Amino acid sequence: MKLDSIILYNFRNYHKQEVIFNKGVNFFVGNNGSGKTNLLESIYFLAFAKSYKTSEINLIRYSHPFARVQAKAQDTLRSFELKLILSESGKRAMINNVEIKKLSDYIGSINVLAFLPEDLMIIKGSPRDRRYYIDLIYGQMDRHYLNELGSYKGLLKQRNELLKQLAESPKPDILLLDVITEQLAASAKKIVSFRKKFVDRINMSLKTMYQFISDKTELFEFQYRPSIEENIEAIMKSKYKSDLLMRTTNVGPHRDDYDFMINQKPARDNASQGEQRIMVLALILAIAETIYNIRKERPVFLLDDVFSELDEKRQNRLIKYLSKLDAQTIITTTTLDQIEPSILNQAKVFRVFNNSIREEQYNG
Ligand SMILES: Nc1ncnc2c1ncn2[C@@H]1O[C@H](COP(=O)(O)OP(=O)(O)OP(=O)(O)O)[C@@H](O)[C@H]1O
Ligand SMILES: [Mg+2]
Repeated sequence: MKLDSIILYNFRNYHKQEVIFNKGVNFFVGNNGSGKTNLLESIYFLAFAKSYKTSEINLIRYSHPFARVQAKAQDTLRSFELKLILSESGKRAMINNVEIKKLSDYIGSINVLAFLPEDLMIIKGSPRDRRYYIDLIYGQMDRHYLNELGSYKGLLKQRNELLKQLAESPKPDILLLDVITEQLAASAKKIVSFRKKFVDRINMSLKTMYQFISDKTELFEFQYRPSIEENIEAIMKSKYKSDLLMRTTNVGPHRDDYDFMINQKPARDNASQGEQRIMVLALILAIAETIYNIRKERPVFLLDDVFSELDEKRQNRLIKYLSKLDAQTIITTTTLDQIEPSILNQAKVFRVFNNSIREEQYNG
């Protein structure tokens, strides 16, 4: 997947801005607050029809009625044009100037994978943060998982409502609770098996990715910590008393967690800031590898402020790895001081300032 160009109209701080991308590495360099993240966000918006940070209305340039993002892109099969218009009354999406009525048919036309500074939360944050992140990424990769997750969430909501009703009742009808518990357990079993498969697939390349970027031999591993794994229905049924007391379902995939282990110790307690950043990057690269094995196509990498906390050696190792992959990469940074001339010679460098973006000729 490659983006040839993008045009922004009244998107965030940009009035009218065109960018023609390099097929390999693209650097967007500028001071704090110059609009680098906004550019990445426009690509993310084009891919997912939503913002990764705030409510959508903030994407429209202050005091303007609408924002528009359009781009030319190509995948292994075709070249196409995408257009997304956002106004107070909603969103309109077009592919090759044909309006796509259902947004879910539009989403996924371009395949992007983002690294955002807030993604470090998947190591340090709560189980909920990790579940949210993994569900988002895996859901994009596998529609069967997304559908099963939708069913599970629907059943869980019904069961929790029923628990509230039953808890109020002097003589609770357990038969109904049995039925919904059996349905929930059947769905839970599928979710657990999907998540196991996902973690196994990621681990196939995660260790190598981490060792390459970090230039260390430590073992980096992603582990699944299911809330329940075997005999799901029986365990769920054995929890009726506490479920009724707390008026909620106490076990199941909605309580699952994941761990990142470095040499068999939890990374969140042991790894440095820079190491954690490399771990998240290794995870993203491993996800891209898994997607490649399924679809034979690499996503466009959007890497926001990826160099902070990485030393010179690791910055260059990361970019070299991405260049070798022949994947399109869009990177924001405040400085290129530590990037080797051989990399800059093959990349496009853009300067971001005064709410505009200009390509800069690099003469290494
Ligand atoms: N809807 C909007 N209309 C106009 N300007 C906006 C809008 N939303 C945000 N901005 C402005 O965009 C500016 C640039 O933000 P952005 O996050 O892209 O900077 P950045 O280059 O990524 O900075 P940093 O290096 O600190 O990450 C901010 O100063 C903000 O005021
Ligand atoms: Mg930024």
